[in-house]
Amino acid sequence: MWCTKRRCSNHRVTHCRQIIRDSLITGIFRWYEEAKLPEFRPKVAIKDFTPPPAISNSTLCHASNTNWTKAAGYKIDSDERKERCRRLTSDVTSRLTIVLNNYCSNIYMTDVADNKPIRECMTCHSDKGKISNTNANMSCDACHTESVGHKIFSDIHYKLMKSK
Ligand code: HEC
Ligand code: HEC
Repeated sequence: MWCTKRRCSNHRVTHCRQIIRDSLITGIFRWYEEAKLPEFRPKVAIKDFTPPPAISNSTLCHASNTNWTKAAGYKIDSDERKERCRRLTSDVTSRLTIVLNNYCSNIYMTDVADNKPIRECMTCHSDKGKISNTNANMSCDACHTESVGHKIFSDIHYKLMKSK
């Protein structure tokens, strides 16, 4: 089902496929973090309630749920929250289907390779930077705010660090 036709030359196929997979997954993650969900309206709903859409700001289930309960005002164990998650699951599945169809029709665009804050943080923190202590595919600002010390000293500290 994985359609790699003409995309990867025989040379280093595995590496090439991994890059494509990473790009598709990153695209889904960035969309999930930023989209107002759920959107799906089932013909026959298990619970007849239209969950207000909200931005999850996180790919983590618990954070996404909590952010929704804060935005919508329902409890975590409510039937309304459960309906939200049923519909959210449909949203993600249909998004995934669209992305895979686009990819297989050669019209997939990698316009969301990563968002700007992640790229900035990863310049220093990823395995390509000198610090090389972080491997994350989530928006950093969902959990970290820049500490004052970090804001003032990270740049100079980084410059003084030895190259890898
Ligand atoms: C210019 C390079 C640089 C960039 C860009 C950068 N950092 Fe850092 N960061 C550092 C350095 C240097 C340290 C200290 C690391 C050490 O000594 O191990 C640090 C430490 C940290 C720490 C632990 C200490 C603290 O002050 O909280 C966190 C968390 C962190 N960075 C998160 C981030 C996030 C999130 C971003 C993006 C918003 C980011 N960093 C961008 C250089 C950078
Ligand atoms: C889901 C929440 C979450 C996200 C998203 C996240 N982190 Fe973290 N990160 C943590 C937690 C929790 C710790 C460990 C506690 C601490 O030291 O603050 C941590 C620790 C760190 C540290 C080491 C801190 C130290 O004290 O030395 C760095 C550096 C860091 N994260 C960078 C990043 C970068 C860069 C991103 C984005 C690519 C990111 N994190 C995304 C939760 C998160």
